[in-house]
Amino acid sequence: MATSESMHGMWSSRLMFILAAAGSAVGLGNIWRFPYVAGENGGGAFVLIYLACIFLIGIPIMSSEILLGRIGRQSPINTMRSVAASSGANPGWQLIGWMGALAGFMILSFYSVIAGWVLSYVFQMGAGTFVGADAEAAGAHFGEFTGSVWSVTAWHTVFMIMTIMITARGVGRGLEVAVKYLMPALFVLLALLVVYAAFTSGHFMEGVQFLFSFNFDKLTGNSVLLAMGQAFFTLSLGMGAIMAYGAYMPKDSSVIGTATMIALMDTAVALMSGLVIFPLVFANGLPSAAGPGLMFVTLPIAFGQMAGGQLFGCVFFILVSFAAITSAISLVEPAVAWVVEKLNTSRAAGAWLIGGVAWLVGLGSAFSTNIWSDVHFIGEMTFFDTMDYVSNNIILPLGGIFIAVFAAWILDGRIRDEEMARDGGLYGVWRVVTRFVAPVAVAIVFIMTFL
Ligand code: PHE
Repeated sequence: MATSESMHGMWSSRLMFILAAAGSAVGLGNIWRFPYVAGENGGGAFVLIYLACIFLIGIPIMSSEILLGRIGRQSPINTMRSVAASSGANPGWQLIGWMGALAGFMILSFYSVIAGWVLSYVFQMGAGTFVGADAEAAGAHFGEFTGSVWSVTAWHTVFMIMTIMITARGVGRGLEVAVKYLMPALFVLLALLVVYAAFTSGHFMEGVQFLFSFNFDKLTGNSVLLAMGQAFFTLSLGMGAIMAYGAYMPKDSSVIGTATMIALMDTAVALMSGLVIFPLVFANGLPSAAGPGLMFVTLPIAFGQMAGGQLFGCVFFILVSFAAITSAISLVEPAVAWVVEKLNTSRAAGAWLIGGVAWLVGLGSAFSTNIWSDVHFIGEMTFFDTMDYVSNNIILPLGGIFIAVFAAWILDGRIRDEEMARDGGLYGVWRVVTRFVAPVAVAIVFIMTFL
């Protein structure tokens, strides 16, 4: 059954797969979401649990997704259907693919809104809006921007159109070029910012302490769920994005080694972002629990005060936009690949269809900071908060349990042994962790939070 090529195209090498998967993983989740969620949950202990989730749950599940994708070589929905059939399993397992496509929709809808904020900041930075700005001015400016329904909606629209157009071009062209040059550039600029925060903020150690002192007092059951949700979100797991990309991966490379490299790069970017943002938070007397606006207030202050900050700030937000686009593409890919297989249409038609619906749903999130800011869905949550909470903390981990159980328990052992032949001794470790540790850990966190 296992074919060696996918009808959607193939990555040109293992390195390209790593770059593409890292492009999917590294995005707003690292630079925007990680610092603000860590800040809202007291820092240190949250970060420790997040790291534990990356290694004990994230890497095993990422390996499972790559493995399944590479066997099936189709959209996650059809991959799960065919892999279940060849393993003699219940066809119901394709539910993994359907749940993933749903989560992808939900995430893309609000992701595009935040990415729209980033795009607008490219121009505001370039125009010098923040030159010399203090905390108050930067905060006021952010409030004004997100309070404008027209600005937010317009930038959400621009970002979605860009995502659709790149997705329409297909696997090799466009995407590969973007990740090859822009991801390393982002990494370098982020490293420079860490150095800047270390030497000029005067509060670097406070930031380090906030992120790495493991004080468990502030940790609640819900923050454990949020740490796990963040681990899934930042690694693009539980919804088939990595499975879809795995379908285009050449056969001759190790699965676990590749997954580990991707996870390490992703974690490095998240921690670096925290090390840039928190020293600035403390240096400017800002609240660490400022919520989704954290990055949009702290970084402009830093750029506003740094020599050449106008240019650096503009370039930085350009690179964050690219990181966001390479993630957004992977959010639509599972659904687009399925539409192409099912309806026999072009990639372009699939991309416009899926992106269009996500754009429409995204309007709810675009309105959440202005005309719908008082409309609550679950508890005190706005539309944006609700989409984010349900997709990242519930659907992704649930998808993750099913993926781990399927890959480690249900998948035909001969197929698995053959695919993992290049992983050597790590294969045995992966099997134990994926069978027992990862699904049980996710289940325990769910039970602790919801019972
Ligand atoms: N991992 C991406 C980020 O950190 C978001 C994402 C989630 C992408 C799920 C694909 C699938 O920004």
